[in-house]
Amino acid sequence: MKIITVSNIKGGSAKTTTSIFLTEALSRKGRTLVIDLDMQADLTDYFLPDSSPEDIDKGNIFKLLTGESDFASSIHKGKFADIIPGTIDLAYLTTRVFQNFSILKKLRTILNENKDYDFVVIDTPGSARSELTVSLVACDIILVPVTPSKWAIRAVNLLLDEIKNSREITNKEHKVCFVPSMFGKSIKHTDLLNRIRSLEDFKTLSPIPKSESIKTKSEKRAKLQLKSVPWEAFDQLANEVIAL
Ligand SMILES: Nc1ncnc2c1ncn2[C@@H]1O[C@H](COP(=O)(O)OP(=O)(O)OP(=O)(O)O)[C@@H](O)[C@H]1O
Ligand SMILES: [Mg+2]
Repeated sequence: MKIITVSNIKGGSAKTTTSIFLTEALSRKGRTLVIDLDMQADLTDYFLPDSSPEDIDKGNIFKLLTGESDFASSIHKGKFADIIPGTIDLAYLTTRVFQNFSILKKLRTILNENKDYDFVVIDTPGSARSELTVSLVACDIILVPVTPSKWAIRAVNLLLDEIKNSREITNKEHKVCFVPSMFGKSIKHTDLLNRIRSLEDFKTLSPIPKSESIKTKSEKRAKLQLKSVPWEAFDQLANEVIAL
């Protein structure tokens, strides 16, 4: 089982979009579970568009972490993959962690006990919250979508610090890979991409192009068109992740 966290402390850096379409590609190659650790629950809205808050209250990542539901009852049948949904209740997670620090390791322990899936993809919030720590402690691979922004390098450095802190809890070396997203061909974008690629110790995977259809399909909660340029880009990303 490969556990993959999609993370960047910069908001709006294509984390949820990457999580959705990477899951779509991975689910063609093996059993895939997707987990929403962002209280904004955008990923949950994509996979469970018709579920009410009451449906999601029956089992979700907050209840799983706080011991109010078990693994099996936290899983919902989503569009093309199983999902443990997110909930706005994650706003209380940091308070719960202060009462019980073992919550930080809980997802890792649960996933290690349940090997029913080939791939687990975890979407995270665009901020350094406890949810991010839970996901970093749980995963083997960290995918960092990077978009052209003046804060890109600083956000990456902040995340690398968070990753270092999570290693104090697990003693585990993660594989950290950048996924350039929405880069154009301008000199500014090329310079930034070269700076990302030159960061030592980290691989840069194949880029995801800027594409209106990626945006519309995620808004309409639809799949990418088979064999289209974005479909091929996420298929390639999935193959590269599997090969890590
Ligand atoms: N490759 C792409 N081409 C065009 N638009 C994209 C692409 N990837 C993401 N977007 C758009 O960029 C916006 C931000 O993407 P997304 O919601 O995935 O970011 P995020 O990092 O999850 O944000 P947050 O930090 O708020 O959770 C969305 O409107 C999304 O549709
Ligand atoms: Mg998001």
